[in-house]
Amino acid sequence: MHKRQIPFGTITITESAKRLIVESLETKRISCGKLVREFENRFAGLLGVKEAVAVSTGTDADTLALAVLHDFGARRGDEVIVPALSFVATGNAVLHAGFTPVFVDIERETLNIDPAGIEAAITPRTRAIMPVHLMGKPAEMDTINAIAKKHGLLVVEDAAEAHGALYKGKPAGSLADLAAFSTYVAHIITTGEGGVITTNNEQYGEILRSLRSHGRNCTCKHCIMNTDTVTYCAKRFRGEGGEDVRFTFDRIGYSCKMNELEAAIGIGAMEVYHEILKKRHDNLLYVLERFDRFAPWLSTIKEEAHEQIGPHAIPIIINEGAPFSRADLTHYLEQNGIETRTLFASMPTQCPGFAYLGYRLGQFPNAEYMGLNGIHIGVHQDVGIEDMEYVLTILGQFLQNSGPDGSSRPQRSWMRTVQACAS
Ligand SMILES: Cc1ncc(COP(=O)(O)O)c(C=O)c1O
Repeated sequence: MHKRQIPFGTITITESAKRLIVESLETKRISCGKLVREFENRFAGLLGVKEAVAVSTGTDADTLALAVLHDFGARRGDEVIVPALSFVATGNAVLHAGFTPVFVDIERETLNIDPAGIEAAITPRTRAIMPVHLMGKPAEMDTINAIAKKHGLLVVEDAAEAHGALYKGKPAGSLADLAAFSTYVAHIITTGEGGVITTNNEQYGEILRSLRSHGRNCTCKHCIMNTDTVTYCAKRFRGEGGEDVRFTFDRIGYSCKMNELEAAIGIGAMEVYHEILKKRHDNLLYVLERFDRFAPWLSTIKEEAHEQIGPHAIPIIINEGAPFSRADLTHYLEQNGIETRTLFASMPTQCPGFAYLGYRLGQFPNAEYMGLNGIHIGVHQDVGIEDMEYVLTILGQFLQNSGPDGSSRPQRSWMRTVQACAS
């Protein structure tokens, strides 16, 4: 069997994207303008939502979606409930928005926040719940929305990895008050670096456009500035004193607009979106449907009847009692050309930056288990079914070679460091 290369991610830059980039460079107007607006319109149209606001990164999208709460009486230090397991950006974003993350463990089977743990984490300071659709598998949104409604909380989907995911027929990104996507390179709709916030609430849309641009007072959905023809905005100077709304600032803002070159890549990606989505979904299902053969040592997630997983990547979990370590598996896959990523970590107890919050190792057993025993690998559009068959073969070979006598490697030293920090 030939060795193949299965990189984790890829980026599709279409010919039309290249044309738009050149056009934009020639106009010398590359800051957030008409291409960003076009990208936002198409993104909103794809999801059937009223508003899409494009920003610099998925982390900014998470942050701004939460920062909207400050317009509605939230105070700095109020709490946002998030799953313990996610890419660290989820927890960072809560802090960037001025809130305190409160962590809830995940379910082993879905990798998503355990709805049964949410109510116990609610306090008088809780303002929002931010579930993550990890690996594109939708979180249990009906239950989460019901809990939020009962307690008067906002729900923000972290849909960074969930392009194309459906929950009970509805797209991720349209399932709660707001949602945040990442359009980073390896994602299905990509702009290179970038993020998008979606919502059906026009007032939130207005606040988000202000937040991404320093908190300025402009409220137009479609700014006419920064196009090749317009330099004058009649709505800019208001009131008796001729106040310049572009340079008055209602709220503490951020500086995280998407630029035209990024939007051009995104517009191109959306032209081939359905093709990419199908290919990635076929790849994903090909592996998921054949994965039982690796029981009892390896497991993954399942696509259930009520959902379609957004084909972001394939998670692989090493089960208890396996006669090999994650490092053994990772080395074998990498040596055979299959790029791997860890399946993130329990933010509160395995990411040293969060140690100051005082959580203790052992509080989030499922997230911590994934932090030590999970990996994920690519399913992107530049690989196909033959590559997926190759992945299955290599996994099979690894298990055949790793008999019950295989040795486990020691746990990473930072685990001990976090324990020390927290104690
Ligand atoms: C779950 C999750 N949230 C947030 C982010 C942040 O996105 P970005 O890397 O674009 O800032 C990512 C990154 O992919 C992610 O996986």
